Amino acid sequence: MSPAATLTDRPTLSASLREGTRAEHGKAESTGFIEALMSGQLTVAAYADLAAQQWAIYGALEAASARVGVHPAGASLVFDELERTTAIEQDLTFLLGPEWQRAVTIRPATRAYVAALSDLGDDVALYAAHAYTRYLGDLSGGQIVKRMLERHYGLGPEGLAFYTFPEIPKAKPFKDLYRERLDALPLTAAEVERTVAEACVAFRLNSAVFADLGAVHC
Ligand code: HEM
Repeated sequence: MSPAATLTDRPTLSASLREGTRAEHGKAESTGFIEALMSGQLTVAAYADLAAQQWAIYGALEAASARVGVHPAGASLVFDELERTTAIEQDLTFLLGPEWQRAVTIRPATRAYVAALSDLGDDVALYAAHAYTRYLGDLSGGQIVKRMLERHYGLGPEGLAFYTFPEIPKAKPFKDLYRERLDALPLTAAEVERTVAEACVAFRLNSAVFADLGAVHC
């Protein structure tokens, strides 16, 4: 096989992430909390609790965005239009009132997730794993979650800013661009493997947050 053919045959990071996290994705989307939330069995308070965990998680993720964003490779993955912290704060103000910060409980699995995001420092490969897991998820299944929250809990734009990307009118072209940026990262095969392993960790951290929420609300 020619060197060119070998290069062409090497799976891209985006394809490796999709394949490598498929099983973890299946587990995350079928946790008791998510299934109960999606089928209308929970309350708006349960959704507010999820939003509170996401506030802590995105605070840490977007602090990591700022750290990696000073490097060109990292900056290629940081998009202002993905920023979610402000939207979550709007949702929590609507759901819990202006004193929401006093009303929320950051759960143990969320603290562990936040610690993992802080620990990644400015490592672009690890950041890519975590940013992929959350932002492409928000632009994909997140849009299904949004419809279910509208349908079952009577929520409208005010409580669902997190799931609304005003500057991304069509998810597909944006997700394609994001995958192109992932695939352009200068990573060795070993680093691609490490990134996929970290994305699996990111999915498990999400599942653990859902398990904590399930213990309280299901
Ligand atoms: C209600 C639960 C969920 C549903 C129904 C769901 C559904 C989906 C669907 C249909 C896609 C494919 C979209 C496409 O091809 O454009 C997708 C992709 C994705 N989801 Fe989920 N999902 C859920 C939960 C999650 C969770 C909890 C995470 C991670 C925290 C996540 C992360 C992702 C990612 C990263 C992708 C992109 C896969 C890729 O193309 O590489 N999803 N999801």
